[in-house]
Amino acid sequence: MQYDGIVGKVAIVTGSGGGIGEAYAKGLAAHGAHVVVAEINSESGERVASEINASGGKANFVRVDVGSESSTRAMAEHVEKIYGGVDFLVNNAAIFGDMKLDSLLRVDWDYYQKFMEVNMNGALLCTRACFRSMKKRGGGAIVNQSSTAAWMGVGFYGLAKLGVNGLTHALSRELGSQGIRINAIAPGPTDTEALAKTAGPMAQQIVNQLAIPRLGQPADLVETCLFLLSDAASWLTGQIINVDGGQITRP
Ligand SMILES: NC(=O)c1ccc[n+]([C@@H]2O[C@H](COP(=O)([O-])OP(=O)(O)OC[C@H]3O[C@@H](n4cnc5c(N)ncnc54)[C@H](O)[C@@H]3O)[C@@H](O)[C@H]2O)c1
Repeated sequence: MQYDGIVGKVAIVTGSGGGIGEAYAKGLAAHGAHVVVAEINSESGERVASEINASGGKANFVRVDVGSESSTRAMAEHVEKIYGGVDFLVNNAAIFGDMKLDSLLRVDWDYYQKFMEVNMNGALLCTRACFRSMKKRGGGAIVNQSSTAAWMGVGFYGLAKLGVNGLTHALSRELGSQGIRINAIAPGPTDTEALAKTAGPMAQQIVNQLAIPRLGQPADLVETCLFLLSDAASWLTGQIINVDGGQITRP
C-alpha cells in the first residue's frame, strides 16, 4: 500500500540490525524515507544500511546505545548533521534475543537496571534526543515497539513493555501540541531469531492459542508502522495497536 507523508522523510529506526527493526527500516526505505539504521551492533547495522542502499533506497548506519543519554544525543546530532533533522523515530531496540530468563524477585539488580534502561527508558531517551528537531521541522511521528507481554504479567520484560505503553500515553499529551504524534505497536509472537532463542518451543504453545494460529512475520507489522507514521494517521496518537493474531482481545 502507498502512504502519504513518507517520501523524503528522515526516519530513525533503533535496533534495526535484524529482526523486526530491519523489516521496519527496509519498509520505510522502500516507501521513500531516508532511513537511519540506529543499532548497537555495528556489523549488523552496517549490513542493513548497505543492503538498503544496494537496492536503491537511502540509508545510513549510526551506532547507538539507546540506554545511554549521551549516545542518544550524539545519534540525534549526527542525524541532524547529515540529513538536517529528524521526522520519524521508531523505538524498536530492546534486549530480547539474549535476555536472561529470571524472576523479578531474583534477577541480579545491576542486570535489571541495565535492562530497564534499554527496554523502557531507551524509548524515552531517544524521544528526548529527537523531539526538538521534529518540532523545528513542523512536527513528526514516533512509533514505540511494545509487546503483548505488557498484559501478560511476564516479569521484567513485560514490565518494561508496560512502561513503554505508559510512556506512549503520557508523551502523547506532552508532544501533541508540538505537532508530534506517538503510538505503539504491540506485536504477538513474531518469527525472528531472537524469539526462537528466548522462547524456544514455548513459542509454538503460544501460537496454538492465537485466534489466527500462526507465528507473525516481521512483514505483518510493517504496514501498521507505515500507517502510524503516515499522514493517514494524522489524528491518531497515544494508542497501543496490537498486531498479534488475536492474542489479546478486549471487549
Ligand atoms: N519477536 C517477537 O516475538 C516480538 C514480540 C513482541 C515484541 N517484540 C519486540 O520487537 C522488537 C524487536 O524484536 P526482535 O524479535 O526483532 O529482536 P532482535 O533482538 O532481533 O531486535 C532487537 C535489536 O535491538 C538491538 N539492541 C539491543 N540493545 C540495544 C541498545 N542498547 N541500543 C541499540 N540497539 C540495541 C539488537 O542488537 C537487535 O538488533 C523488540 O523491542 C522486542 O521486544 C518482539
